[in-house]
Amino acid sequence: MNKPTVLSGIRPTGYLHLGNYFGAVRNFIRMQDDFDCFFFIADIHSLTTHPTPGDLQSGVKQVLAEYLACGIDPEKATIFIQSDVPEVAELYTFLNMNAYLGELERTTSFKDKARKQPDNVNAGLLTYPVLMAADIIIHKAQFVPVGKDQEQNLEMARKFAKRFNRMYKKEVFPIPRPYTFDGKDMIKVPGLDGSGKMGKSEGNAINLYEDPKSIRKKVMRAVTDSGPTEMNQEKPESVQNLFTLMEIVSTPDTLAHFDELYNKCEIRYGDMKKQLAEDIISYTAPIRERIIEILDDNEYLAKVAKLGADKARESASRTLREVKEVIGFKRLF
Ligand code: ADP
Ligand code: TRP
Repeated sequence: MNKPTVLSGIRPTGYLHLGNYFGAVRNFIRMQDDFDCFFFIADIHSLTTHPTPGDLQSGVKQVLAEYLACGIDPEKATIFIQSDVPEVAELYTFLNMNAYLGELERTTSFKDKARKQPDNVNAGLLTYPVLMAADIIIHKAQFVPVGKDQEQNLEMARKFAKRFNRMYKKEVFPIPRPYTFDGKDMIKVPGLDGSGKMGKSEGNAINLYEDPKSIRKKVMRAVTDSGPTEMNQEKPESVQNLFTLMEIVSTPDTLAHFDELYNKCEIRYGDMKKQLAEDIISYTAPIRERIIEILDDNEYLAKVAKLGADKARESASRTLREVKEVIGFKRLF
């Protein structure tokens, strides 16, 4: 029996943080035995922010090393770099013909980016979801493990896949679905600044590569309030964020302990933060050690990238051949 196909990727724009790990990479690792997995580094997508060639190179190397350090196994999953598979750019071109300006302009991620970088509202940002759809459907992926912030982009990918199938009256592409474990909702890891999600560009992230001293410093500085004044009071977002992080990295007993203190108005945020910092460190320290080791081994990194590129190109070119035939690119002369 064939295993269902899974694909996901991350842009190489810096170090991986806890949001990337718990929103995406941890699920990659859990899926690699039971699914046919493709995990990639979205270096073409990252060009929308105009990195220098040096930053692009070091970003790709960093994410590759971090994927491996987290436990993605290149013998089980296909790990590859997006730009090593030029077939995806060809499919992106075809899909662009059926992607409409109105729907692309309405995408929240486009509106966000246009607001954040008003001097660089380029066409790549606008068609970002089209390239993401091409990434997914070129491998005929059925499942896509991503965090909550990618929900709308994934919805667009579904739309483009359905549209193509309908237009050419052929089920070329399976319709990809988000994947989470145990029927849970897609997750959003909060930042330490009391609002929203943890993110690279939000400047509120704890990286897997972060050293323990810096983790302690960041957690101790996290925003809170002056403490509950009534028993069983509802938590404001800034306080809920600490609890959500604790729910992710600490044991249920630890979480229950601080929850009880909060409900009795006896909580001391300093104690809670100390515990949270230590729990984050126990999680990240072994990963950090492996990142350092792997970053030092260029030969191994090159071998993994080559193996992944070969496997991904084979799968992508198979789909592209079918797509071109369906579109009508047949040689008649
Ligand atoms: P960033 O937001 O830091 O730029 P990316 O957009 O490259 O990170 O995200 C890569 C992956 O990590 C995606 O699957 C995304 O959904 C997930 N992710 C990023 N931040 C979070 C978060 N705070 N909570 C859950 N998942 C996240
Ligand atoms: N848009 C994703 C992000 O910023 C990265 C990405 C590109 C991706 N192509 C993808 C994720 C395909 C899943 C599937 O996080």
